[in-house]
Amino acid sequence: MSEYLPGLAGVPATKSNISSIDGEKGILAYRGYNIQELAAKSTFEETALLLLDGELPTKEALDDFDQQLRGERKIKYNIREIMRNLPATGHPMEMLQTAVASLGMFYGDEEVLTESYASEDLYYVHNMSVKIIARMATIVAAWQHVRRGYDPIEPRFDLTHAENFMYMFSGLEPDPLEAKIIDACLIMHAEHTINASTFAAMVCASTLASPFLVIAAAIGTLAGPLHGGANQRVVEMLEEIGRPENVKDWLDMKLEEKEVIWGMGHREYMTKDPRAIILQKMMTEWVEKKGDLSPMFETALALEEACEEALGPKGVYPNVDYYSGILYSEMGIPSDQFTAIFAVSRIAGWMAHWREQLSDNRIFRPTQIYTGPDFRDYVPIGNR
Ligand code: COA
Repeated sequence: MSEYLPGLAGVPATKSNISSIDGEKGILAYRGYNIQELAAKSTFEETALLLLDGELPTKEALDDFDQQLRGERKIKYNIREIMRNLPATGHPMEMLQTAVASLGMFYGDEEVLTESYASEDLYYVHNMSVKIIARMATIVAAWQHVRRGYDPIEPRFDLTHAENFMYMFSGLEPDPLEAKIIDACLIMHAEHTINASTFAAMVCASTLASPFLVIAAAIGTLAGPLHGGANQRVVEMLEEIGRPENVKDWLDMKLEEKEVIWGMGHREYMTKDPRAIILQKMMTEWVEKKGDLSPMFETALALEEACEEALGPKGVYPNVDYYSGILYSEMGIPSDQFTAIFAVSRIAGWMAHWREQLSDNRIFRPTQIYTGPDFRDYVPIGNR
């Protein structure tokens, strides 16, 4: 019998050439390109195409892709109506899962291929990826207004993906520094090997379900606080701590109670997550440009230092969610939208894995170690 490994830790679930992690050295690469370089030099559009197609695009291919994304930004009136009928108090991830699954209902059987040859139809795979990537951003931004009883802000076609997202979200002309930071955040969250939500997408894809349902499965999985939901918890935790001078007593108490410190630790990294390093640098740039050091950032720096002594020996350091929430918070984004923004980015990786799964598909069907009772006779209700 094979050994049972809780959480499938260290068990290869697939062969993939999309991204790789060196957890000892703290390196993340998409298709071989280091995330540090991509965050500094690429754009979300270029990185998404790199993830989908496997190579850095030519200028012409990138321009085409960019135009296609711009052309697919609008969502149907019916989707907006579905959103309007959802409770305003609901979590944005529940709304997003509902809206993305609903998108699929507008495509007939002849448009959504559920045959194993689907991955060979490159036009179909590309077209579905463009539609879903473009619309996820519109849905998340629209919810910001719909849940307050307003009409969503229509997408603009003269803006990049990140700029347009910010514009639809806030209704304001995007600030160049904020747009640059959001673009880099979208790049950094776009892909991360076989994590829980990507695995959920792959399992769903392996059944040949429609790509809308594949992404709905991934969204539900990303929502949990041990995965994409951690960035919201980080901000709530820092608000609870309040000020740097409260860090020590707060941390001692939490560690004594064996509680999780949000935004710390990662199954794959024994070092600080390379994305946390980039985000921390961006946060410093933000503070220098905007001129004031937020108490939240100061508290986060003090907590990181205090955690190093207690958790460093276990290989537990800040992960991507530690600083991303603080940045979003500084930009006035409500904390319950952080994970939905994560999904607006991770959609690029999910679509790449959907395509990869279809290209060499076998339905996932793991086994189990049964721990229940032996076979036994049914007892009629009167005899129990
Ligand atoms: N706070 C406190 N202790 C932590 C910790 C954290 N955030 N993350 C790990 N540890 C400790 C564990 O308690 C365990 O200690 P022990 O050996 O004394 O029992 C040790 O470090 C190993 O952790 P483990 O739970 O085996 O790691 P994992 O790989 O199963 O879990 C996470 C990884 C991400 C789920 C975990 O680190 C976590 O819950 N982090 C907080 C949530 C978060 O930020 N998630 C976003 C990930 S990008």
